[in-house]
Formats: sequence, C-alpha cells, structure tokens
Amino acid sequence: MKGEPQRPHERFLVFGAPALGEPEIDEVVDSLRSGWLGTGPKVARFEDDFRAYKSWGHAVAVNSCTAALHLSMLALGLSAGDEVVTTSLTFCATVNAVIHAGATPVPVDVDPVTMNLDPGQVAAAVTPRTRAILPVHFAGRPCDMTALQAIARDHDLALVEDCAHAIEAQYQGRPTGTFGDFGCFSFYVTKNVVTGEGGMVLAGSEEHAARIKALALHGMTRDAWRRFSDEGYRHYLVTEAGFKYNMMDLQAAIGIHQLARVESNWERRRAIWQRYDEALSGLPLVTPAAPEPETRHALHLYTILIDEERAGVSRDVFLERMTWHNVGVGVHYLCLAEHPYYRQALGWRADDFPQATRIGRQTVSLPFSAALSDADVADVIAAVERSLEG
Ligand SMILES: Cc1ncc(COP(=O)(O)O)c(C=O)c1O
Repeated sequence: MKGEPQRPHERFLVFGAPALGEPEIDEVVDSLRSGWLGTGPKVARFEDDFRAYKSWGHAVAVNSCTAALHLSMLALGLSAGDEVVTTSLTFCATVNAVIHAGATPVPVDVDPVTMNLDPGQVAAAVTPRTRAILPVHFAGRPCDMTALQAIARDHDLALVEDCAHAIEAQYQGRPTGTFGDFGCFSFYVTKNVVTGEGGMVLAGSEEHAARIKALALHGMTRDAWRRFSDEGYRHYLVTEAGFKYNMMDLQAAIGIHQLARVESNWERRRAIWQRYDEALSGLPLVTPAAPEPETRHALHLYTILIDEERAGVSRDVFLERMTWHNVGVGVHYLCLAEHPYYRQALGWRADDFPQATRIGRQTVSLPFSAALSDADVADVIAAVERSLEG
C-alpha cells in the first residue's frame, strides 16, 4: 500500500465479534458443572424469555436459523411444484430451506433504498402455485409488512419471516417475527444475540409450535428430552421422520444472558451507527438509508456502497485494502443469481435482479458489534478513509 506503513488498527479487528460478558461464562460453567449439557431446563428458560421479549406466540429453540427456516417450510406442508416468493438479496440458507422442503424458491428484486424485497414485485411474482411469502428483514430493517400481509391475505398465502437480522426490529409498533405463521431467528456468532450456533422459531399457533418441536427432535413425541430426567424414565414414540435440530443447554446458557442485554447492546450499536453516519457521509460512498418512520431498525449490519466510478476504487479492491488495514469486512450479499448452483439448477440470471445485483457488487459491511470500543470505531473510520485514498 503506497507510502502507508501505519495500519489504523494494531491487531486484526474481526468482523462481527460477539459482545460476551461474565454472566454467559458463569452460566456455561454452571451447565458444565451440572453435567446437563444437552436440551434441558436452560433451553426451556431461553424459550420462555424469548417469547416474553416478543410478547407473542410460542418459541421453539433450534440449533440454527437454517433449521428454523427448514422446519417452518416443512410445517407449511409444501410439496413439489409449490412456490415460495422471497428476496434475491439474502443468505443462501433462506432459499436452501425452501429447496430442502421440496418446493421452489422464487426470488424477486429489492427496493434500491431499503434493500428489502419490493412488495410490487412480490405481487407480480404470485402464480397459482405460490404457497408462501418469505421476507427477510435485511440488515435489521423491517420489510413493508402492511403490503406483504395484504398480498398474503388476497392470495391465501402463508407468511414466514426470516428474522436472522431482526431480533429487536418493530414495524408500526409490532415486533418482527409476529406477522405471519412463523418467525425464524439466528443466534450465529455474528448476530445481535449469539449462542455460537442457534436459532428460534416463533410460531403463532400451539399446534404449529408442537409440530416444529417434534420435527426438531427426530419426530419424537413432545418433551422427549425429558426421558432421562429424575422424573423417571419415559418412553418416547416416533410419529414422523424428523431431524436433529434441537438446541443444547450449553447454547441456551449463553443466549439467556445475551437476550438480557439485547437492548443495551442495541443502544451501543445505535451510537456506533450515528458515529459512522457522521464520519462517512462526506465521503464518496453511500451510507445506509435512515430507518423508515414508525419502524424500529434492529441495527444488525452497517453496509456502505462502493461505486467504482464515484469512489475511484472497486469494491473488491476496497475490501482488500480494509483487510490490509487490519479491519475485517463482510459482503451481505452477492445477489443469489450470482451463485453457480442457482443459475444452473434454477436458471436464475443476475440481469433479472438489477438492484440486488448492483448492491451485491457494491456492498461492504463494516464491523458493527456492541463489542467495539470507541477507539475501534475510530480505527474503522480511518481505515475506510485510507482505503478510498489508495
Ligand atoms: C438472512 C439470513 N437467513 C438465514 C441465515 C441462517 O442463519 P444460521 O446461520 O443461524 O443458520 C442467515 C445467517 O447468516 C441470514 O443472514
């Protein structure tokens, strides 16, 4: 890097470092000392806490959001030929869950400002085979749920929200994950609440929640995890061929205390968001749009756009320079149609999703964790400035 011996950050600043505290460590140690590592009372407590946080429905903990999405799709009873309309700007897990349930994902383009799926395009993509809409609250910004609920109602479609980025989000005062049949959450290491790997399904009906719970543990009858407890051995019965998607107490031990700090961590990220906005708005790049009125953004990702013509540097060179400056960065996401599998198996073409394709080729996610110190934030800003200079 020309004439630039000093890197803004001394050691490599990992993208998406979790904000862990002593209570998580103590709770994991407590689980280890108790000897109960697998699914047990701490998972039940984490589910109760999560349900209380959302004030809605029934919560079922699983071992990833991918599992949550897969089980939600299965619980809808999809079959071959059924279509699920979703966004073209998301993580592969969103559409893989539909494929693994035997149905066909139908991606649509996104709004250029919100980067969320465009309701007009969702309506246009509905066919007689459409069974569900699967919105992703991208970066933590709630989708237009009024419009999506209306489309679902008009066409008698299920609604499943991919809330991997959107634990704290609200739309017109209502929490995300409570608008349809299922809300699916992620507690992966980079997320706003972490358990290492982990996920949660929020289900509107008790019947749906029971089905998800059974499917997540081999299709065994309810509460089969209790079979080794001190209440005496209980026989379990397998009622369908399920999966091994249950969460462990070791994971819930972390999640319980992460969830207890979800609001203070959100406040910290809000301060970082404001600092980035102030520092970066004068630079030749695009900062994220302000949250829409009557919404609460979950503030999961802070994504900037690097347009080579304006910035004088390509996005990919910018990524390399940020890494050289010891600042970890992410790309959320390449348009799904850029991936060979979807092009070959489903015939998706980047040209059909001009906004998602453009965003996917320009976007850069900056470190945006509550674990960042003010000095870390200053180093990220310095790295962005220097990466634009060359
Ligand atoms: C939008 C979206 N959906 C689903 C997932 C899958 O989550 P998990 O890693 O918990 O399976 C992710 C994870 O990054 C995601 O970003």
